[in-house]
Amino acid sequence: MKLSNGVNLTVINAEEIQGEYDTRSFFYVLTLWLVSCWSMFTNSVQLLYLKLFRYRKKYFQKIMWEMGRDSSHVSSFFFDRFSHINHRAKYGAADWRSLDLFYNYHTKVKPSVRKNLEGFLTHYWMEKMENRQAVTNRFKIVVNLLSDAFCRFEQESEIRVLSIASGSAQAVIAAIKKNPDLNIKAVLIDNDKTAIDISRQNVKEAGLEDHFEFVLGTTRKIEEVCEQFHPHIIEMVGLMDYLTDTKAIRTVSRIRNCLPENGVFLTGNIRHNREMLFLFWVLLWPMIYRTEEQLSKVMTEAGFSSEQVSLYYEPFMIHGVAMATRGVL
Ligand SMILES: C[S@@+](CC[C@H](N)C(=O)[O-])C[C@H]1O[C@@H](n2cnc3c(N)ncnc32)[C@H](O)[C@@H]1O
Repeated sequence: MKLSNGVNLTVINAEEIQGEYDTRSFFYVLTLWLVSCWSMFTNSVQLLYLKLFRYRKKYFQKIMWEMGRDSSHVSSFFFDRFSHINHRAKYGAADWRSLDLFYNYHTKVKPSVRKNLEGFLTHYWMEKMENRQAVTNRFKIVVNLLSDAFCRFEQESEIRVLSIASGSAQAVIAAIKKNPDLNIKAVLIDNDKTAIDISRQNVKEAGLEDHFEFVLGTTRKIEEVCEQFHPHIIEMVGLMDYLTDTKAIRTVSRIRNCLPENGVFLTGNIRHNREMLFLFWVLLWPMIYRTEEQLSKVMTEAGFSSEQVSLYYEPFMIHGVAMATRGVL
């Protein structure tokens, strides 16, 4: 399918990626909205109290963010009061900890869930929510697209990939493992030391130490790293959801300038969906949601032509991945 600006959009079937597509009933969504509304009330009262009596100079959004990331804050009786896994997903939101729970829910989390209240709540929210399933689908799409991108450079003696905001680097590791015959080198940039530490550990467990280098730093390091590393592929999935349009366009444009002819850029963005209220008020996880038109506009305003950009959405149409190729077409 083509968007109005000419960018190609593909919705990927769950079977194609061995993904998840268990859509929720109206009753489930209604429950989710009711729990969200109750949390909107209780968390607003707490927010107002903190703003008026503790942090007068801080913006509401900052207070809300810190409240959500505070491991002693409980958002909802129905979500994280009795499930430590749901609670971890809430205070670890936006970093590798939550994603680790989401990506590996079926292999790491579910087997340890017992048949009690905690187990019920974990199963009800963590397993069933469409957003959890969707982000896992995104992960699988990114692995496949990275792997396809590696194959485009199979003639090179060394294929170089840069991952920005790399988190625990699970997608890059999985894509490299899928292509054992290719000589792939990766540099990971993340501004969180714990993310660098866990990715180092994951790389070691995968036996890929010779393939990786780690940079603790922010997106400001992009040009410095690229000048030395000359990546063929740059991946930045999971960061656009927090960047305003101006920042997103500037960052993508800087990345584009670092790519060689035929170089590939991969990124992604969450799309508006019916569980947004829950993410905002229960998980206290504010994100910048973009439609497919808005995501493609960021890419084209950053300098890619519409023919150079393709969008891939997972079956729920909650997460989109954009793949752009510099210079050709
Ligand atoms: C949602 S995670 C995404 C991780 C990984 N790319 C994935 O998709 O699984 C976002 C990561 O971005 C990192 N991060 C946030 N702001 C950053 C910045 N300005 N520069 C570099 N990393 C950043 C966080 O530490 C976190 O590990």
